[in-house]
Amino acid sequence: MSKLTRETYNKMASHYMIKNKKNLYNNYYERPATISMLPDIDKKLIFDAGCGGGILLEELVKQGADIVACDISEKMIEYARSRLPKYSNKIRIADLTEPLDFIDDNSVDGVVSSLALHYIDDLIPVFTEFNRILKSNGFIVFSTHHPVVDWKWFDQENYFDKKLNSEIWHLDGLDIEVHSYHRTLTNFFNIFNKSGFYVDKLLEPLPVADGEAVNAVSYQFLMRNPHFIIFRLRKIK
Ligand SMILES: C[S@@+](CC[C@H](N)C(=O)[O-])C[C@H]1O[C@@H](n2cnc3c(N)ncnc32)[C@H](O)[C@@H]1O
Repeated sequence: MSKLTRETYNKMASHYMIKNKKNLYNNYYERPATISMLPDIDKKLIFDAGCGGGILLEELVKQGADIVACDISEKMIEYARSRLPKYSNKIRIADLTEPLDFIDDNSVDGVVSSLALHYIDDLIPVFTEFNRILKSNGFIVFSTHHPVVDWKWFDQENYFDKKLNSEIWHLDGLDIEVHSYHRTLTNFFNIFNKSGFYVDKLLEPLPVADGEAVNAVSYQFLMRNPHFIIFRLRKIK
C-alpha cells in the first residue's frame, strides 16, 4: 500500500498543493481544527508524520517549534523543502511504516499528523514508533476520516469490516484514484491502548466561518455532518 500511496501523491503533488491551500475541507475545516488541538509548542521539537507539502509544518515553525518531518512522496517533500529551505535536512523522505531511525528515543515533545494515517494498514507499529521517539507525557495530534461516517461515503456494506476503500479525486484537470483504510472507533482505541497512549482530547470539528464564502453548500453540509475527526493522545509510559 505504501508504494501505491507514494505513486498517487507523486502524480498529483502539484494539483494537491493548489487544492489544499484554498479548499474548504483543508484550509477552513481540517487544518484550523488540527491547529486548535495543539498544546503550547514554542521551543518544542515536533515531528510531522506525513507532512506533505509542508503547509502545517510552516504553521508549527510560526508557533516557535523546532521540527523534524517525513513523507513517503518525493514530490511532496520537494514542496515542503522549498517552503521551509532552512529546515531542508530535517524534512526527510521516509515511510511511516518503517522504523524512524533518523529520530532518537525520547527526543520529541509532540507528533502531529494531518490526514496521513488512514493510508496505513497496520497502525500499531507506527504508534509504537511514535511512543519510542516521544518524551514522557509527549503528545500526538492527528486528524483522520471520521470512522463513524467514512464507511458510508465509501458505500461499504459493514461498518465493522476494516477495509481498503477507494474514491476518485477530481483535482483541477486531474482525476485520480485514492485508496484509504476504514477502521472502527473501537479499533482506534485498541491501537492507542496497545501502543501506550490515552486519549486526552477529541474534536469533531466544524468549519471556520470564513469557509462559507469559499463553498456555501459544503460549508452547510459540514455544519450538520461530521467528516474528519481529530484526536489528541498522551504517552502513558
Ligand atoms: C492528505 S496528504 C496530507 C499532507 C499534509 N499532512 C497536509 O496536511 O498538507 C497525506 C500525506 O501522507 C503521506 N503519506 C501517506 N502514507 C505515508 C507513509 N506510509 N509514510 C509517509 N507518508 C505517507 C502522503 O504522501 C501525503 O503527502
